[in-house]
Amino acid sequence: MKKCILFVAALAVLGCADSDKPTLKQVYQDYFKIGAAVNYSVASGKDPDAHLIAIREMNSITPENCMKWEHVQPNPGEFTFERADRFVKFGEEHNMFIVGHTLIWHSQTPEWVFQDDNEGAATRDLLLKRMQEHINAVTGRYAERIQAWDVLNEAIEEDGSLRQTPWLRIIGEDYIQKAFEFAKQAAPYAELYYNDYNLWKPEKRRGAIREIKKLMDAGVRIDAVGLQGHWRLGDPTLEQIQAMIEDFAKLDLKVMITELDISVLPNVWAMSADVRNSIEKRDDLNPFPGGIPDSVQTQLTERYQALFRLFLDHHQSIDRVTFWGIYDGTSWLNHYPVRGRTDYPLLFNRELQKKPAYDAVIQVAQQH
Ligand code: GLA
Repeated sequence: MKKCILFVAALAVLGCADSDKPTLKQVYQDYFKIGAAVNYSVASGKDPDAHLIAIREMNSITPENCMKWEHVQPNPGEFTFERADRFVKFGEEHNMFIVGHTLIWHSQTPEWVFQDDNEGAATRDLLLKRMQEHINAVTGRYAERIQAWDVLNEAIEEDGSLRQTPWLRIIGEDYIQKAFEFAKQAAPYAELYYNDYNLWKPEKRRGAIREIKKLMDAGVRIDAVGLQGHWRLGDPTLEQIQAMIEDFAKLDLKVMITELDISVLPNVWAMSADVRNSIEKRDDLNPFPGGIPDSVQTQLTERYQALFRLFLDHHQSIDRVTFWGIYDGTSWLNHYPVRGRTDYPLLFNRELQKKPAYDAVIQVAQQH
């Protein structure tokens, strides 16, 4: 008896006690891929528990930061692929569907990209040349190793107009088409995606659909739309999310829920920038520094349960659901848009243990 208890305890320490339990990627295998954004520590194993969770639970990965322009080409023509290489190797070692993120975006892109040698604005020709060189270098390095690319990220404003970025200002509206054309030439075997947030808002969604249709009408390949899921306990509503999935599915595009996390903290986006920058003075913006109350944990569990029921009902349209991170402790939401908050958005807690929301998500698939 004593020996048996010791054996079980040893298995638990080694993390083996869980090894016979079904995992997220297993219970969802007939419906859609389960992915996560991973940082360097997860990919390299420096964060060993999170590394193991990713291997056990996920069959797709997206790089949290290491493939963004500022990381792979911080200075003109100077490429640094060390971390991106490690990320891709991690995905290959574990047979995961690898998503490259992201080629063209207005954020985390160095200023020099949009400037000429004298720090004036780059010309259209110069910026197009840079766009193509960057896409060639990055996608070309991983040709046939990366299965899909977020070609363009967040190009639409909340009202549905094109976002006023240097890409738009300097190149003009066809920068979108150019980005997809360059990506197709450089990575002919990869799927090509448009990725954005708040597409549950009808006016923003109309803008995205307009741009996607333009690409389709021009015969430019686009395979899927990534619907970022940086959501909250109560909003957007399930109806809003459902309408979004259905509208994009009607275009005959694959739909992905990307960047899923559920913040349980007060919504500072609805407040002024002043408030956002004054977290130390506003304890009410960080109500749960010492732990998540049971009532909020229950709401989070129910939210995840309802979302995955909805995703399962639409599994024929949904190809992948990707969480933005592995566990609460390393979520970007602890630092953004205000520094130093304590959020609880994911399925694994700060101790890397499964939360009740994890069990709910597993059960929803088992009962489907
Ligand atoms: C956006 C980007 C991601 C990431 C998240 C938050 O949604 O697409 O790359 O930066 O914000 O971390």
